[in-house]
Amino acid sequence: MLHDNLSVNESGNLAFCGKDTVELAKKYGTPLMLLDEEGIRFQIRRYLRAMKSSFGEGSFPLYAGKALCIKEIYRIAKEEGIGVDLVSSGEIYTALSVGFPLSKAFFHGNNKTDADIKYAMDNGIGYFVTDNFEELNAVNEYAKEKGVIQKIVLRLTPGIDPHTHAAISTGKVDSKFGVAIETGQADKIVEYAFGLSNVALVGFHCHIGSQIFDIKPFTDAADIMIKYIGKVKETLGRDIEILNLGGGFGVRYVESDPVIDYEDNIFRISEHIKDYCGKHDIKMPIIVMEPGRSIVAANGMTLYTAGSVKEITGYKNYLAIDGGMGDNPRYALYKSSYTVLNAGKMNLPADYKCVIAGRCCESGDLIQEDVVIPKPQRNDTIAVLVTGAYNYSMASNYNRLPRPAIVAIDGQEEKIVVKRETFEDLVRNDV
Ligand code: LLP
Repeated sequence: MLHDNLSVNESGNLAFCGKDTVELAKKYGTPLMLLDEEGIRFQIRRYLRAMKSSFGEGSFPLYAGKALCIKEIYRIAKEEGIGVDLVSSGEIYTALSVGFPLSKAFFHGNNKTDADIKYAMDNGIGYFVTDNFEELNAVNEYAKEKGVIQKIVLRLTPGIDPHTHAAISTGKVDSKFGVAIETGQADKIVEYAFGLSNVALVGFHCHIGSQIFDIKPFTDAADIMIKYIGKVKETLGRDIEILNLGGGFGVRYVESDPVIDYEDNIFRISEHIKDYCGKHDIKMPIIVMEPGRSIVAANGMTLYTAGSVKEITGYKNYLAIDGGMGDNPRYALYKSSYTVLNAGKMNLPADYKCVIAGRCCESGDLIQEDVVIPKPQRNDTIAVLVTGAYNYSMASNYNRLPRPAIVAIDGQEEKIVVKRETFEDLVRNDV
């Protein structure tokens, strides 16, 4: 099947980590998100090992918390010894709430408020990934007030278009993120940062986009960034120790997506970088990467219960499920591809073409179109695969739909790691 954690059991039902998904749906209710905890640990270890063996002992990955930001994920990150990329005080709070050591965190975001800067520094954040002049000054001022030297990494835009969905492509010059190399503005902010009293500029960062299968956009970005590191050495006589290449490795959502060999990609990127540094006589920086999607996406899935099956004569068939854009807004936002299965009818012929529609009052509330599955009926369990990344973290309460529960499966053990929201939760802040 699409990923190793999926199988069909003797009852003809879809199993996730060996557990019958139809039974899980009955036991915990739907919509329900499932997480494969062993799978998440496996991916983290893979990145840790591959980065050290390819780039050298000093290099390391960070888990990009925006993909799935819940306490359990930071418990795992802490146990596995991986650093994290955090983008808001809320994400920092989540990590801190399970004792994640903030010294191993990089604080991202294109518009950190004064309160964010204070909160992060007061809690001992390792690095600020500084995006602009205003933030740089604010970080320097607060570090001065505290009497500390804050380590920072500057976010630069290398001017790379990775040919992914425009909304998730962020390395281009015309972007709200970072400072452009091409326009000469990077030169100004770098020189300025070196002149500040309470920040230590130790690295550069770029993030070109997400759901990228090819290594070329990464090696192109690395070339530009390393060339720029060389320029900084030449013009300012300063060393840049860290090059953070961001996240972005793709994940297989549907059969037609390529299978990606993460170790091999990392190895080939490392060979390219070593070669480039050698040729241009530039000291190899410590390479950092920030995978989010590729750690959690395939280690998650969502179960729904089928409702209406509407056949519009001469048009399409619509299968409505008990969730939708509230728990998975990705089709509505990006027309993202997903694999949908009728979990209790895995051995029946898939011959029923339909649109999977959510339950929100919004005609764009679809999960997928042109899905072909065994004919569904009300109360069937419908599985949407590969939903671990950017589903729960982007979920909303639109139409006052409570967010799903998350059940993690760790070997034989099942545990609720996020409770289902209650109606009381929905009105908690209403006065
Ligand atoms: N580092 C930075 C600075 C980022 O902005 C991102 C993602 C990552 C790392 C992690 O990238 P990943 O390995 O997960 O591709 N909501 C969109 C994805 C937005 C990605 C935002 N930044 C989606 O659902 O496809």
